[in-house]
Amino acid sequence: MHNSIANEPLASPVFREKPKWTKEEAEAALGFVLKKIDENLEVFSRTFPDAASQGGVYPAVDNFEWTPGFWTGMLWLAYEATGQDRYRETAEKQLESFYDRIEQGVHIHTHDLGFVYSLSCVAAYKLTGNEQARIYALKAADLLLSRTFPKAGIIQAWGDLNDPNQRGRMIIDCLMNLPLLYWASQETGDLRYREAAVRHADQASRYMIREDASTYHTFFMDTESGAPLRGTTHQGFSDDSCWARGQAWGIYGFPLSSRYTGNAELLERAKRLGHYFLNRLPADFVPYWDLIFTSGAEERDSSAAAIAACGFLEQAEQLPVLDEFRSLYENAALHMLKSLSESYTTADLPNSNGLLKHGVYSKPGGAGVDECTIWGDYFYLEALIRVTRNGKAFW
Ligand code: GLY
Repeated sequence: MHNSIANEPLASPVFREKPKWTKEEAEAALGFVLKKIDENLEVFSRTFPDAASQGGVYPAVDNFEWTPGFWTGMLWLAYEATGQDRYRETAEKQLESFYDRIEQGVHIHTHDLGFVYSLSCVAAYKLTGNEQARIYALKAADLLLSRTFPKAGIIQAWGDLNDPNQRGRMIIDCLMNLPLLYWASQETGDLRYREAAVRHADQASRYMIREDASTYHTFFMDTESGAPLRGTTHQGFSDDSCWARGQAWGIYGFPLSSRYTGNAELLERAKRLGHYFLNRLPADFVPYWDLIFTSGAEERDSSAAAIAACGFLEQAEQLPVLDEFRSLYENAALHMLKSLSESYTTADLPNSNGLLKHGVYSKPGGAGVDECTIWGDYFYLEALIRVTRNGKAFW
């Protein structure tokens, strides 16, 4: 039995109306993104933009950590949206490093393999039928599956499965990694991947959502007994605050699981997370880095707005036409996108190789604060394509 969670009414009437933002303006925003990608194509053909920029400029890095798939995913989105071969050719050059990463065992003991391989290898396979990419995406799914604790029903986020500091920790971000498992079951007919994903989504919805519909960033389970232990934060303000990007991962991640499973309860809970998020936005619809802040001088996290915009669009797509919130969620996404396109892009920073300013990687960690973030750029592009084309996300 799931705990009951609040269903806050939407406080602001603003979401009842679409913003004044035309198709031409959205196309112009997309045009700016494609121009930036073009400028970066050569530099980032064998390397990747780092997770966050430094002074608005991404250093070039190797395939490591959780973020290289975002740049490759942007190339695939650009290819899908335009049909231009230069995007496909650059993405294909990059696939080699995703294969090597698995062969050489570079930073593969992490749940983030979903972020990394969904947007690179799964996208390549879905768009171009690349068989080698399919093989490596399935290897990544195997590695992800090996991180499950059956008794607790969760996938451990980071580190060695026997590390006492990490053992049994799930994190809200992991919802975005589950589509790799759903896809692997569809491809192979082996239901173990799907069962692990279903169980993890269910446990996350049970334990990571608080009664007020805010979320914990991370939650520890007892891997022997399966009992819930405690919620803690990693990148949020405090253990009992609501990290804005974590809430956004839930707003998008739960509906991704409901899309694959048809579990309407997950969609319903995502709606409630969404209302909590929308009710804490400042006037320009871009949240502070933690939703404990609703005004003042703390930094915004533009990436949380971009992720949430995709999440609201995904929710709207799954809701019946007559659902009272369907158009409100589309409007919410458009309000966020309009604001990002008008006030958060690097259009006024010609030396920047990023797209969206004012993201925050980790405020407590002092990393990437008030910088471009490569996932913020990715989700901004994905959202723009969702509202201007019938493009399919790769999740
Ligand atoms: N998944 C890590 C982050 O959102 O910073």
